[in-house]
Amino acid sequence: MNVTALDALMRPESVAIVGASTDSTKIGYTVVKNIIDGGYKGKIYPINPKANEVLGLKAYPSLLDVPGKIDAAVVTVPAKLVLSVVEEAGKKGVKGLIIISSGFGEVGNKDLEAQLVAKAKEYGVRIMGPNIVGTLSNAEKLNASFAPILPLVGKGALVSQSGALLIALDMATFTRKVGLEKLISIGNMSDVDFADLVEWLDKDDATSCISLYIEGFKDGRKFMEVAKKAIKPVIALKAGVSAHGAAAAASHTGSLAGAAKVYGAAFQQAGVVQATDLNNLFDLSLALSLQPPMLGDNLVIITNGGGVGVLATDAAEKFNLPLKFVPKDVQEELKKYMPEFGSAKNPVDLTGMAGYDWYHDSVKIAFSHKWTEGLVVLYCETAMTNPMEIAQGIKKAIDESGVKNKPVIVSFVGGEKSEKAMQWLVENEIPSYSAPDLAVHAISALREYARMKEIVSEPEDKLNNIDKLAALKVIRTAREDGRDALTEIEAKQVFAAYGLPTTITKLAKSEDEASALAQEIGFPIVMKIVSPEILHKSDAGGVKVNIKDDVSCRDAYRTILKNAKEYNANAHIHGVAIQEMAPWGTEVILGSINDATFGPTMMFGLGGIFVEVLKDVTFRVAPVSKKSALRMIEEIRGAPILAGVRGEEPRDRDVLAETISRYAHMIVDLQEEVSESDANPVLVYQEGRGLKVVDARIILKKK
Ligand code: ACO
Repeated sequence: MNVTALDALMRPESVAIVGASTDSTKIGYTVVKNIIDGGYKGKIYPINPKANEVLGLKAYPSLLDVPGKIDAAVVTVPAKLVLSVVEEAGKKGVKGLIIISSGFGEVGNKDLEAQLVAKAKEYGVRIMGPNIVGTLSNAEKLNASFAPILPLVGKGALVSQSGALLIALDMATFTRKVGLEKLISIGNMSDVDFADLVEWLDKDDATSCISLYIEGFKDGRKFMEVAKKAIKPVIALKAGVSAHGAAAAASHTGSLAGAAKVYGAAFQQAGVVQATDLNNLFDLSLALSLQPPMLGDNLVIITNGGGVGVLATDAAEKFNLPLKFVPKDVQEELKKYMPEFGSAKNPVDLTGMAGYDWYHDSVKIAFSHKWTEGLVVLYCETAMTNPMEIAQGIKKAIDESGVKNKPVIVSFVGGEKSEKAMQWLVENEIPSYSAPDLAVHAISALREYARMKEIVSEPEDKLNNIDKLAALKVIRTAREDGRDALTEIEAKQVFAAYGLPTTITKLAKSEDEASALAQEIGFPIVMKIVSPEILHKSDAGGVKVNIKDDVSCRDAYRTILKNAKEYNANAHIHGVAIQEMAPWGTEVILGSINDATFGPTMMFGLGGIFVEVLKDVTFRVAPVSKKSALRMIEEIRGAPILAGVRGEEPRDRDVLAETISRYAHMIVDLQEEVSESDANPVLVYQEGRGLKVVDARIILKKK
């Protein structure tokens, strides 16, 4: 990435506005006015072939007529003129373009957009947009946009793929009193994309946290790689998660929105905190921009009211941070700052009598104690106490504790006085929320962030006994046959090449062969039709199980062939698969898709009714380490079934995790060939007894 050009684009010393206008109804006028009104200190060059002056500034007919250097140019001329502006910008040595103009990829005009990028590349110019509102930075006092005003000053940056939403959020920073350092409209992402901005913002001194409103990535893996390395917290709000929403997102910006589950998995794997909605994006941005990550699960809640304490306790459970009692020594200390009827356990209830001193002293003790890893302080406004004094007591206690590596979050429930006190706390870098569950949600995000970052730094495992050539040979045979679906036998051969334990399965082309193979494998056996045109074998009457002797085997062979021909007279019948009948175990499913945004992606879940009705599955963008695979096994709702419930022995989760990891390796290795696949069912046995892939399906990419 050309960091220098992006630097100049984000922190320009001089800005031109191509399409600057004297007509106050035009965007080209508003942008010049915004840059002036924002207090930008660099040089401003309006460009307009007809005007001599715009808003009191000397105007130039073209970029090439400007005497000094130009770092960035905002483009507000109609789409058809933009290519020539890029050419001029390149010739002039402009480093970056903020192209506000619409009329490109988002309306199907992809060629014109590609031409802009190609031209810009020729000259090493970076493009933000097109189809954007612009960029706003408090640090630079630069409002290079047609959004009304620079956002309320804060520490986070927000990058938005929706322009209209960016404008709305700009204004909301004032009403919600959550400031931002930067607001960046990313539009069609023809050149500068989310990954580029995360990488740049991560190094930007003025930014402490990066929030993203995402409709869809073009290159999900590029984003993941950058986000994994980011030192600063990254928060993502992904829109278009429902099937309906996804369609809306696609038509809005011309980009494709990927499946919600895959995005969710990718964010988790990249250490990106996922916001649930716009309010939550603001809430998390406040917490993550002001407080450090929470490095362990020991959360202390201090309150003056039982009700908010219980609500916070419920929220802690819901957000995966269940409360534990604080150690006895802390309880003894805390008892000094509450009446007899208070509680020092956790939540620590100072009772309604608590004023400045009790809050100050108990916060200081709890926050300083080595057991505590995060603190939430709650307060219900009473007639006995002054919210501002309580806020000051909390802040003083935090400062005096000298602790810098633990988060503290506050919630005051009350009226105007409480609002003012919370605003003061935020100005003093202590995130404050109007409800206890919001405060707990925020601190749980700081915990989740720390947990994810630990996982992100785990190394990948090395896998042995992999024979990629053998797998490719099987695939080549199918391709030569003109097929893009492997037969079950072929799919199992591919799985076996990656060390997945599969049931012995052999092809019989005649009744006698079936009989001989059945003897060789040993009864009981399973017999299945093998035909590329019959993927749903049971529906075709093509499966017979628990065949115990030779007569039944011969009988089954004839019946299966007859059923298959009746089901599809044109189907090519390769024969009948003779398969060892694996003993019954817990059914799970492993599967893969080649996601348009993230590439090979792995799915795991319980099989049978669990996958069909409850959809109890989880995803990871491949590859998947064995440790991550164990987490997949633990995070499905049916995890206790594999862990062993009601006296059942635990299942062999170790071998299952290795199998998931090998499967994920396989789909990465074969990503040029494999489009989708499943191992379903996979039967998992007791600990130490492994598992067996009983049925297999691989669909190849169309070539
Ligand atoms: N160099 C410099 N200036 C030029 C040039 C040139 N080569 N050619 C023309 N101009 C001047 C024009 O003369 C005009 O100035 P004037 O008012 O003094 O005559 C000015 O540039 C603007 O050109 P117009 O043709 O008047 O274009 P207009 O302002 O109507 O529209 C715009 C241009 C705003 C870029 C429009 O085409 C557009 O794309 N609008 C949508 C923008 C948008 O909404 N983007 C964000 C999307 S995100 C969201 O949802 C909010």
